[in-house]
Amino acid sequence: MALCNAVDRTFLSDRLPNPYTEADADWWLGMVAGNEGKEGVWRSILVDGQLVGSISVERKDDGGKAIGEIGYMILTSFWSQGIGTEAVRQICEIAFQELALEQIIGRVFPENVASARVLEKNGFRLEETMTGSVVKGGKAMDVRVYRLNF
Ligand SMILES: CC(C)(COP(=O)(O)OP(=O)(O)OC[C@H]1O[C@@H](n2cnc3c(N)ncnc32)[C@H](O)[C@@H]1OP(=O)(O)O)[C@@H](O)C(=O)NCCC(=O)NCCS
Repeated sequence: MALCNAVDRTFLSDRLPNPYTEADADWWLGMVAGNEGKEGVWRSILVDGQLVGSISVERKDDGGKAIGEIGYMILTSFWSQGIGTEAVRQICEIAFQELALEQIIGRVFPENVASARVLEKNGFRLEETMTGSVVKGGKAMDVRVYRLNF
């Protein structure tokens, strides 16, 4: 709850409830417990034992291909220290291994330069821009799709 209520939402979709309540957290933790290692891998990002972010790769239904989608967020005061880059490196390794994925995609708003950099530094390649594929502020927005092959 502390993380999700403090995180900068400028480049996040409407999927993250706002405000983020105890019921939202209970639902999330139950979902993770039931699906970990099957439908996705979900991790906290810790720095010296302190929770500073969250990261996941969730399995996507994509025409029979084993594809996962990555998502992440880090508290603003911990940005630009390489934490996002390292977290993406680690979760991709875990996801390829535990979910037997062929590919991982990341969907990034065009203005989210830091997120695109984090993906590029981990070998993701820009593939396409999808029009109106993510809802933000009730509006369908364009996103850039980055892809990493196993
Ligand atoms: C995206 C996010 C996870 C990045 O985490 P981070 O720990 O700051 O990332 P890193 O420090 O590993 O790398 C950030 C890179 O972006 C660059 N960067 C950051 N802000 C930038 C900007 N405004 N313009 C250009 N480059 C920028 C940094 O210089 C760095 O690249 P470099 O190593 O080549 O110099 C973090 O900003 C965040 O949580 N944002 C809010 C949630 C979000 O957008 N999630 C992703 C949704 S797709």
